[in-house]
Amino acid sequence: KRILVLHGPNLNLLGQREPDVYGSTTLTQINSRLELMAKEAGAELFALQSNAEHTLVDRIQQAKDEQINGIIINPAGFTHTSVALRDALLAVAIPFIEVHLSNPAARESFRHQSFLTDVAKGLIAGLGPIGYELALQTFLQSPQQD
Ligand code: DQA
Repeated sequence: KRILVLHGPNLNLLGQREPDVYGSTTLTQINSRLELMAKEAGAELFALQSNAEHTLVDRIQQAKDEQINGIIINPAGFTHTSVALRDALLAVAIPFIEVHLSNPAARESFRHQSFLTDVAKGLIAGLGPIGYELALQTFLQSPQQD
């Protein structure tokens, strides 16, 4: 299995950024944990953080040629703005799980809309870093074609 993890804008600042909202765990710690979990399951994990929408779109398009089985994405601020990320995910037709550290539905009203949720395999929000682990477990446990 080959799983891609995408982190959107400002998630490079995890650990320092609004720790009351996003916690103290850094992105490096999250990725290391996911890499270990994937390795133990005999799977390959690819991770990318970008502040640029086009870089994330390019990476999603590339995933098709790389036979990625599942995408875990925290689109961060692009959740609430990006038709382009939605279109890219629909274009490659790779199942994806949307993850948020915080619970956007419990925050400002502009965070209540997601351009991804209705086309996602699932949504995990408000559980902090463990949300990524649950998403990864889901892909590691699901049949190959999923
Ligand atoms: C976030 C929630 C988004 O509303 C916000 O823009 C982020 C992070 C989260 O993980 O809780 O940058 O996706």
